[in-house]
Amino acid sequence: MRILFLGDIYGKPGREVLKRNLKHLKQEFSINICIANFENLADGRGISEKCAKTTFSYGVDFATSGNHLWDKVESFPYLRQEVRICKPMNYPKPEMGMNFIETKFETKNLIIVNLAGQSFMPPANSPFHTIDKFLENYTIEDNIIFVDFHAEATAEKRAMSWFLDGRVSALVGTHTHIQTSDEQILPQGTAYITDAGMTGGHESVIGVQKDIILDSIKDGVHRPYKVSQRGLEINGVMLDIDDKTNRTNKIIRIRRCFDRENT
Ligand SMILES: [Fe+2]
Ligand SMILES: [Fe+2]
Repeated sequence: MRILFLGDIYGKPGREVLKRNLKHLKQEFSINICIANFENLADGRGISEKCAKTTFSYGVDFATSGNHLWDKVESFPYLRQEVRICKPMNYPKPEMGMNFIETKFETKNLIIVNLAGQSFMPPANSPFHTIDKFLENYTIEDNIIFVDFHAEATAEKRAMSWFLDGRVSALVGTHTHIQTSDEQILPQGTAYITDAGMTGGHESVIGVQKDIILDSIKDGVHRPYKVSQRGLEINGVMLDIDDKTNRTNKIIRIRRCFDRENT
């Protein structure tokens, strides 16, 4: 099975770059399932029902999330019943969304898990204890298991990679919006990258127009954020997962730049 995972889609520029390019990208890599992080989908903050359904229509099949999942109060009813979006499993309120996604692709069972880090992040239960308990019932012998670890600290993500090597098919980091070049297959067959990056405007500070951030840093006065529309990129990884072992044979880091000539 081939999975395409896309790093945090940031606002309308992130959605638009997928509208124009996702179909072709999926064809290029013969993708079976596309998963994306939606936490910044609407204006960079949270998820709206309209934005989510539109982005699914571009070819995203399932979505993970993170600390911005509940930024829009009006979306709570939708997020509680949308079975294609999962919340961080280790967040304290299990009723606030799907705790994981279980689906079928042909004869294979695919499990999608989202975890949140504890270092420099909002309060959450231990991601290590949470996934350890979950894997007592869902094993790599019976399932392809994809984990998006939404965390700030590289060390926390790296530690999780060793904790889960051989127990999940892939562990992909998100949240920093900066793609790392450490993609690898760990010794026991788990694919890993510290951060998949961001899909959206990279002429920015993690998606926000750079002048707004620079002015705020210079004088200490917060200004309303505006989404950057410049330096459009699709960031993510392609995972080629072995049908027999549910381990990953190959991980390819994807970073496509689309409007550099205009910036
Ligand atoms: Fe994000
Ligand atoms: Fe985040």
